[in-house]
Amino acid sequence: MEIITELLAGIVGDAFEKCGYDRSLGRVTMSDRLDLCQFQCNGAFEGAKRYRKAPFMIADEVAAVIDGSKFSKVESVRPGFINLTLKDDELLRFASGAAGSVPASNAGETIVIDYGGPNVAKPLHIGHLRSAVIGESVKRILSACGARVIGDIHLGDWGLQMGLIISELRHRHPDWRCFAADFDPQSDAVPDITLDDLSEIYPLASKKSKEDEKFKREALKATADLQSGDAGYMAVWKKIMDISVPDLRKIYGRLNVSFDCWYGESDAEKYVAPLMELLGEKNLIRESDGALVVDVAREEDTAEIPPVIVKKSDGSNIYATTDLATIIQRQRDFAPDKILYITDSRQSLHFEQVFRCTRLAGLVPESTALEFLGFGTVNGPDGKPFKTRDGGTMRLEELLDTAASAALEKLNESAHADASSAEADKADTAEKIGIAAIKFGDLINQRGKDYIFDMAKFLSFEGKTGPYILYTVTRINSILKKLNVPYDADIRPAEIYSDIERELYLKMALSGETVARAAADRAPNIICENLYQTAALFSRFYHDNRIIDEPNAAKRRDWTALIIAVRRVLMLYLDLLGIEAVDSM
Ligand code: ARG
Repeated sequence: MEIITELLAGIVGDAFEKCGYDRSLGRVTMSDRLDLCQFQCNGAFEGAKRYRKAPFMIADEVAAVIDGSKFSKVESVRPGFINLTLKDDELLRFASGAAGSVPASNAGETIVIDYGGPNVAKPLHIGHLRSAVIGESVKRILSACGARVIGDIHLGDWGLQMGLIISELRHRHPDWRCFAADFDPQSDAVPDITLDDLSEIYPLASKKSKEDEKFKREALKATADLQSGDAGYMAVWKKIMDISVPDLRKIYGRLNVSFDCWYGESDAEKYVAPLMELLGEKNLIRESDGALVVDVAREEDTAEIPPVIVKKSDGSNIYATTDLATIIQRQRDFAPDKILYITDSRQSLHFEQVFRCTRLAGLVPESTALEFLGFGTVNGPDGKPFKTRDGGTMRLEELLDTAASAALEKLNESAHADASSAEADKADTAEKIGIAAIKFGDLINQRGKDYIFDMAKFLSFEGKTGPYILYTVTRINSILKKLNVPYDADIRPAEIYSDIERELYLKMALSGETVARAAADRAPNIICENLYQTAALFSRFYHDNRIIDEPNAAKRRDWTALIIAVRRVLMLYLDLLGIEAVDSM
């Protein structure tokens, strides 16, 4: 597809060249003063330094020779701007080509994205929301730009929480066959455990380990034994996985978040021995208090980067070990060009250590990028990390339920509510609105920044919110239904009647570039901003005009084409955010 700013930069670059200047000065961006022009080139300012001339002189010269066939206005404006506005038919041509399509800016790349990162047997909490929601969107954006993307959940299924649960079960059920020395996986079974059992056992065992040194030692030993493949413990572990994973799938499903790979830390176990061997061969390992560590500090470091521990003194792996081993697995299975990690910013030191160790050991080719995409904390209205009313951590599922029921309440009292719609449909719509509220409320924030979780604000039908965007789409749907035109009818607009339409077409013409920028910056918030701006422009257009009652058939047809294109862009953006639209509300 055509990248408009590049195409225009070519035209303006030709003019710079014609005047004897470097053509790269012709860079064109969308104007931030649409009342003055649609695009601008500021190259004369840089040229002024290079060619020792006043910027306006360069701008005047260049503007005079720009090929004006695509423009309704080419202007040199003091102190040296070149302002450009497209002819309406050019704008329409660009907009119809671009609305809803995306440039293949990442074609040919293989990218592994590590996001989600829930810990099996511990409930998902609000902290896991961001990784899932941001990761899903970054995955969709990069994939729309042509990359082959592999999303991996990287389950936390191999750590101390497993040892804690196993030890507690062992105390409660010393007679279970899986705890006997002669356990036989062929003939012995592990009795049933339920999700409720797990949600009772884990917090209890975790608390106990903090108060009871002996219990803690047992849990650590159980963790190490599990990691070395103890058959009975493996059987319990499998049981825990069998009940936890479907529950995780259910919650991620509600969030419209999916993964290509459901690998866990446990799947890295078979790469730990090769990892240790490689680190040994390269003389990277040193002993420290019985543990094995790799030094990763560099002379130029301004802050201290401690060594990575790759084996604890009891022989068990830790977080870094599995991350390093997983890199071996990813290189072997996918040979990715990039691996992206989406976790809380507070894990940045861990990843710095892991990446440095990866380079020292040469686990991936030099050209493979390892990127840590950290995100900020979700805070409550008091500015401190979000808690439930009684001070506990908010479970993710509870949060989703709260959002859905608040959305349902709003639907029931709202004037737009379609009274005829069945209760089940209403509940489904409310669920989608609730999820949209939470996801948009999260994704609109710059990734690295903390934000305040404000359900009432996120659920509002006005302003920069998910529900406002969904509502805008339903408005378009309802007009198209009344006009009896399919949502995806192929109608080409012939004419533009107002500035607001011009602005809408411009936004749509630049939508593909917007997606490419979001991909390059790994920034779903760019999509959110543009989604909101497009929806808000549509709302202004909608208030100014009566589309259905418009007597002029040609105008009605052009407007119909316009709103179909707007709908296409809104739906594309929503899809890239992983937010599902509703048909009516
Ligand atoms: N399970 C980890 C946590 O809850 C997140 C995993 C992130 N991914 C990774 N490759 N370390 O903190």
